[in-house]
Amino acid sequence: IKIKIVDRDGVLHEVDAPTDMNMNLMEVVRSYELAPEGTIGICGGMAMCASCQCYIKSDHLLPEKSDDEEAMLAEAFFVEDNSRLGCQIHMQDNLDGLEVELAPEEQ
Ligand code: FES
Repeated sequence: IKIKIVDRDGVLHEVDAPTDMNMNLMEVVRSYELAPEGTIGICGGMAMCASCQCYIKSDHLLPEKSDDEEAMLAEAFFVEDNSRLGCQIHMQDNLDGLEVELAPEEQ
């Protein structure tokens, strides 16, 4: 699938994301090095750090937030109504055309 990712500098990237590797959005961002090492995916995808927070710009139907994701977003900075944890969104066919923007880095 193709997804659009706006990085933290506001630059738009359109990337190919495989759907057959159980990859999540945070891992896609890392694989294309769209955020510096150590600033995204800090907890390794456990919904425990919010470094992978992103804003969902398209109206794709996403999986419901887990309790862990809800709890993490309740504590994170820069949270908006369309915030999600990228590590909790797995690449699958129905997300073709997804548009997201990375949230600012928490300091
Ligand atoms: Fe830590 Fe997603 S990588 S919450």
